[in-house]
Amino acid sequence: MILVTGATGLVGGNLIWQLLQDNGRVAAIRRAASNLESLRTIFSFYTSTPDLFLARIDWRIADMLDENSIRTAMHDISIVYHCAASVSLANDADALFNTNVTGTRNVVRAALESNIDKFCFVSSIAACGKAAGNEPVDENSTWVDSPYRSPYSRSKYNSEQELWNGIRSGLNAVIVNPGVILGISGTDTGSSQLFSQVQKGLLFYTNGGSGYVDVRDVVKAMILLTQSDITGERFILTGENCSNKEILGWMADGFGKRRPVFNVGKRMLWFAGFLSELLGKVCHFTPLIDRGTARTATNREYYSNRKIKDTLNFRFSSVENSIHQICDFRLKSNSEHSNLSKTIH
Ligand SMILES: NC(=O)c1ccc[n+]([C@@H]2O[C@H](COP(=O)([O-])OP(=O)(O)OC[C@H]3O[C@@H](n4cnc5c(N)ncnc54)[C@H](OP(=O)(O)O)[C@@H]3O)[C@@H](O)[C@H]2O)c1
Repeated sequence: MILVTGATGLVGGNLIWQLLQDNGRVAAIRRAASNLESLRTIFSFYTSTPDLFLARIDWRIADMLDENSIRTAMHDISIVYHCAASVSLANDADALFNTNVTGTRNVVRAALESNIDKFCFVSSIAACGKAAGNEPVDENSTWVDSPYRSPYSRSKYNSEQELWNGIRSGLNAVIVNPGVILGISGTDTGSSQLFSQVQKGLLFYTNGGSGYVDVRDVVKAMILLTQSDITGERFILTGENCSNKEILGWMADGFGKRRPVFNVGKRMLWFAGFLSELLGKVCHFTPLIDRGTARTATNREYYSNRKIKDTLNFRFSSVENSIHQICDFRLKSNSEHSNLSKTIH
């Protein structure tokens, strides 16, 4: 049987949907307090009868930080897709390290003990190295730690090292390194937060940019790699390298809003991050933006997707089309909710 960790999240939820198209039942890990509403929203993107598919999930209650619960969850499992992680640009390095690195170590250990046939790990472009000269970052770019790395980036790099340790100990595993993932998540985190901001109206953009990818491409590549004989390899998954201005502009078009017009410079954003960090410390709140998020928002990186394209003859969807489909779904869901609340009142 197949087991998915992080099943209530963006990647895990869309992956389970795809796996359910070819498998009667799929096992999935959730924590005792996990909210399943996000998964219902993800399935609603694909079907008008999400509950029929939710009923085919074999839930196993476990927490990555509790090794015994993970070991028990792996009973009768032959394939593991490990998608669970803490995805945050916040500066809480200890919490990120604990969930992402210690949690992944526990999942890898349990998989080795259970003699899992194949393991697929979701890493990130945040765990990739720096570009050499003007070349785009690829799977072989050398990792260089620096004060500019976010705690999230470091935690993803170190959690990937847990996988490489597992592979050296005999784990049959593949690793994917997706760019910023676009898709329906049912929560307001990650790129969904960006969609929400633009839907409300956003007039500002920054000069940065990154590699973007549709979640459906991510899960398709994960399944193909897991079904293949490939092992001990990592693959960058980015559909296109886009500027922040392009991404925000396509989102604004999708919602019928005005495109952001005002450019916020690097220095101004850094200063805003510094100020809100300071205020947060003095007034005891978590700032919306800090120096780390300011740096990420103004950074421009390019990534090569050549390896996955050549290995699997893989074709990525257009980022602009993906964004428009997500905007359409969000607009439709909003109007259904507002019709429902009119009926109730
Ligand atoms: N989102 C992106 O743009 C992006 C880009 C590149 C790579 N990635 C990587 O892709 C993977 C999936 O990310 P995502 O965007 O799907 O994240 P997400 O939507 O935030 O979901 C995270 C999932 O991890 C679970 N989780 C967190 N801590 C756990 C714990 N201690 N024990 C068990 N489960 C736990 C959460 O469960 P609960 O419901 O209980 O909270 C949730 O199901 C991560 O490894 C992330 O680093 C994401």
